Amino acid sequence: MLHAVEFRRRLLRWFRRHGRDLPWRRTRDPYHIVVSEFMLQQTQVSRVEAYYHRFLERHPSIHALAAAPAATVRESWEGLGYYRRAANLHRLAQAVVGEHGGVVPDEPAALRRLPGVGRYTAGAVACFAYEKATPAVDTNVARVIRRAFHPRLGGPPASRRIWETAEALVAGRRSAWSFNQAIMELGAVVCTARVARCGECPVRRCCVTGSRKSVNGKR
Ligand code: ADE
Repeated sequence: MLHAVEFRRRLLRWFRRHGRDLPWRRTRDPYHIVVSEFMLQQTQVSRVEAYYHRFLERHPSIHALAAAPAATVRESWEGLGYYRRAANLHRLAQAVVGEHGGVVPDEPAALRRLPGVGRYTAGAVACFAYEKATPAVDTNVARVIRRAFHPRLGGPPASRRIWETAEALVAGRRSAWSFNQAIMELGAVVCTARVARCGECPVRRCCVTGSRKSVNGKR
């Protein structure tokens, strides 16, 4: 992979300086991480923050959530939409309490058997709660990796390659937690879907797309 070492180093340095201070970045509590990831699945960071705190006040532990009536859980989700997520989160809590002794699993394979947990969320929980060196590729991360490493790829092979690249970037690394937060951050604030702000990008020099552009604009 072209420039992977440099890409990682620059991205991590940028994140140390510019990463946002978000509540789920201050904790390693697996339950809190699961709640944040479920909320972030379809909702922007700025909206999630308030709901995250409110939800955790109402359901302070995974045991409390598992024991809560479905209607109460739904009500705590009010305003976030996509209520399937709330129902899945509730069932997840019951499965963790019933089948895992109340401890959220730390392995992606076990996480994926839980309700509402796909490949991305499994990787995110293993990494953000347990600091496992697992890839976690959501829409933002996929876009960054595609632009930086595989700009010509499309279709289903692209998805496989992107996951492989994400895996190669974190495998065996103690910095996996920071790297995954950092690449998500880059996709959210710099390398966005509408515009790639290459002029302010810390990894521009080691990005296939960014390095092809001239300094003041297109090509
Ligand atoms: N989206 C999903 N997980 C996130 C995180 N940890 N930080 C910012 N955005 C996210």
